Amino acid sequence: MKKVRLGLIGFGNVGQGLAQILREHGAEYAQAFGLEFRIVGIADARLGCVVQPQGWAAGQLLDHVAHTGTLKGLPGEQPGWDALALIRECNADVIVELSYTDLQTGEPATTHIAEALSRAKHVVTTNKGPVALHYDRLAALAQTNGVRLGVEGTVMSGTPVLRLGRELLAPAGIFGVEGILNGTTNFILTRMETGAPYLEALAEAQSLGYAEADPTGDVEGFDAAGKVVILARLVLGAALNMADVDRQGITRLTPADIEAARAAGERWKLIGALVVSAGQVKASVRPTRLPLANPLAGVGGATNAILFHTHLLGDVTLIGPGAGRLETGTAVIEDLIAIFH
Ligand code: HSE
Repeated sequence: MKKVRLGLIGFGNVGQGLAQILREHGAEYAQAFGLEFRIVGIADARLGCVVQPQGWAAGQLLDHVAHTGTLKGLPGEQPGWDALALIRECNADVIVELSYTDLQTGEPATTHIAEALSRAKHVVTTNKGPVALHYDRLAALAQTNGVRLGVEGTVMSGTPVLRLGRELLAPAGIFGVEGILNGTTNFILTRMETGAPYLEALAEAQSLGYAEADPTGDVEGFDAAGKVVILARLVLGAALNMADVDRQGITRLTPADIEAARAAGERWKLIGALVVSAGQVKASVRPTRLPLANPLAGVGGATNAILFHTHLLGDVTLIGPGAGRLETGTAVIEDLIAIFH
């Protein structure tokens, strides 16, 4: 049995989802993969910092936070420590970076990830900012230090779209990608089709935990654009910037637009697309009317989907969750197994 020691940066939705998965399925992973995952440190900007070299039972962490609303008071409390102190001082083999996404700077997550990699610790992250903005630099740092950088959860959470596109479909020759890459906007559009007002649908998406801290990132298409940039780099090998994505959100769609599409047997979807043409990769995010026969048209609610256009297999579609605490926590486990199994 190999022990894998995890240091978590961030213990919000995804961090607690990961702990819940370990509490409920850790024994199965140990049996199936010969890997015992132990959380040995957590730094959370709101909840505090704790370190325990032999680790805690995941259930102990969850119970403590549920009862007290903080990490303070757990054995191993480190008053005054921040994420960088945790990375430098704890005995984790892997830093799991789960702090909030900033698609303008990628910070503070990029600094955390760079620090961990340069100390030869593996990193797994579900944070889109550092991957959309600084992937090449971070991947090079990982290589120089002989460690791995896992980013599966940055697009479609635990639905394994990056692994599918980068590894399994690569020989088929991908020449285009279209996807519903943002759950919040798909949820809003689906609710608007049944007559819900935009603001009510947005509030519902927020209360269900799909939306970003600032939902402008969702409804104006920035979140989907970040995922398009990540797909361009990891699946098509094209280094695009956020500004290269021709981006439009859903805020200008009216109930009349939704009704006009319905009357024509079509549906609005916010589609993130990559098209390879003459060696160039063109990227866009925009509301698009799809005929109901399009496999993406039937994907409702917060569910995500991606359609790969390939030379050898034709079209391949993957549908699955794109957000949520357990769904995103699952992506972390997928990366950990890919690194250590
Ligand atoms: N706000 C994002 C969404 C979360 O709605 O899809 C997952 O990246």
